[in-house]
Amino acid sequence: MSYSAIHVKPVTPRIGAEVSGIDLTRPLSNQQVDDLHGALADHQVLFFRDQKLDFEQHKALGRHFGELHIHPNTPGPEGHPEILPIHADADSKRIAGENWHSDVSCDAEPPLGSILYLHTVPAAGGDTLFASMHAAYEALSPAMKTFLEGLTATHSGDHVYRRTNALIGREDRNKVFPRASHPVVRTHPVTKRKALFVNQGFTTHIDGLSPSESRALLAFLFEHSAQPAFQVRFRWEPHSVAFWDNRSVQHIAMWDYFPQVRSGHRVTIKGDRPF
Ligand code: SIN
Repeated sequence: MSYSAIHVKPVTPRIGAEVSGIDLTRPLSNQQVDDLHGALADHQVLFFRDQKLDFEQHKALGRHFGELHIHPNTPGPEGHPEILPIHADADSKRIAGENWHSDVSCDAEPPLGSILYLHTVPAAGGDTLFASMHAAYEALSPAMKTFLEGLTATHSGDHVYRRTNALIGREDRNKVFPRASHPVVRTHPVTKRKALFVNQGFTTHIDGLSPSESRALLAFLFEHSAQPAFQVRFRWEPHSVAFWDNRSVQHIAMWDYFPQVRSGHRVTIKGDRPF
């Protein structure tokens, strides 16, 4: 696709592009929004430099692409429930996104996309890795594709969020976390490309298989999905932004910089029921 309002430079042929020639801190024109939609469909995750976003600018940016999601476990700061703080320092016991995942895939209607802004980054490390689940699906044999077609898997937030809460000492005894069953192979509503949609973070089992069958199949799919050939790795600088499509990619955050500080915020855009 060609773009008239932005410059797009692919990082790998399969996934990821650097976008320049746009100021995300200001309201976007219809053409800029159309071009970003197109670039996201083409490249699955977009990277931007030198965008100093405050909470209001960050939310306004996200709202160009849909209604904003409120995280089921981590409320945003006072007055900004749609902002998800992403922060790690010398006192951290865990960080967000330490396993491969698609954001909040335990929701019945998992988020379309996420926009992460970091203002403070470690001198080295703290990269985010993204893997194309279209590339992962397309690399499977025809026989495996046929076997997976029609299967569903259960995604749960319970074990994920209770672990976080136990580590940070947050009371959650009476909370109920989202749980949903989704197709193992989903179709992207815009591009119609198929993608694998199971992840280490949230997927607990394949519905209808025995526990050992489900464990073996998920182990294979997780290992297959994490192949370097399907990945792009983003090196953050202060005030960088990454905008990814949760229907197309999984991601993992590298916590290799302890005890240094890495800090910013994310907005997440609501999505539809996967099909
Ligand atoms: C996340 O959204 O899962 C966090 C990603 C990151 O901090 O790089």
